Amino acid sequence: RKLGIVGAPVTIAQPNMGVDLGPNSMRHAGLIDRLKNLSIKLEDYGDIEVPMDGTYKINPKINLKNLEEVTQANESIANSVKDIKKKGEFPLILGGDHSIAIGTIAGLHEYYQNMGVIWYDAHPDLNTGETSPSGNIHGMSLAASIGIGHEKLINLNGSAPKVKPENVVIIGARSIDEGEKKIIQERGIQVYTMHDIEKHGMNEVILKAINYLQERTDGVHLSLDVDGIDPAYTPGTGTPVEGGPSYRETRYAMQLLHESSLLTSVEVVEVNPLLDDQNKTAEIAVDMLTTLFGEKYL
Ligand code: ARG
Ligand code: MN
Ligand code: MN
Ligand code: MN
Repeated sequence: RKLGIVGAPVTIAQPNMGVDLGPNSMRHAGLIDRLKNLSIKLEDYGDIEVPMDGTYKINPKINLKNLEEVTQANESIANSVKDIKKKGEFPLILGGDHSIAIGTIAGLHEYYQNMGVIWYDAHPDLNTGETSPSGNIHGMSLAASIGIGHEKLINLNGSAPKVKPENVVIIGARSIDEGEKKIIQERGIQVYTMHDIEKHGMNEVILKAINYLQERTDGVHLSLDVDGIDPAYTPGTGTPVEGGPSYRETRYAMQLLHESSLLTSVEVVEVNPLLDDQNKTAEIAVDMLTTLFGEKYL
């Protein structure tokens, strides 16, 4: 196996500048060397060109800020992910805000009949222009991937849906908007909230998610939003939510995912070094990634 790594420094689907520095903050935290130390073959293709205009194009009619630019950026991401897949490599995408999942999943979907997604996040990102409290597209990317939302986003690189809602498992949710609750109930999306993690423990939750997806999918993408982890560990992110899984719980989850060999692609998003305490959040993101690819304590 060889990893194909690409940075997707998209910021314009949320309001905080600095998340464009996410890919390099993880490279500077030692990502490439630590993966190489695991004797993993890899190629780092650098960062994708994305529109970086910080000014917000608010379209009050549709409540999707920077829709044109976000669409364009995600088309490039989809193409770059397809190039990596064509080479037979395992895609690892470094964000960037969480809108990049639209492009990643759109690029991946044509390689699977029945793709699964693990969405490790404080938020389900199941809003649309109609339900979003913010108009920020990073809160709409999972909705778009399951075929709900603006036509430009849902039909990017192929017709909707890219993933069946029942092939999605959300882990760590603790900030869920009203419109998102409705979609979860109506579409049969599996959600393990913090309540479930508290009650059953991470071990049981992650094993259930693995078993569920193993039986019904032919490939699983992990979309790891660093705000899924408790902000005590990952403060460098734009929409932190208290009460998340710890570093230990998350790292353990990554270890079980590694052992399962379930994953076929990974992205990590929402690392914002301008909001961080030193480069702590990127360092933790790198620990999670190296664990996913086989780094062990002993
Ligand atoms: N639910 C809120 C919204 O729609 C926050 C979304 C945060 N998303 C993220 N990928 N960090 O605006
Ligand atoms: Mn997210
Ligand atoms: Mn989030
Ligand atoms: Mn298609």
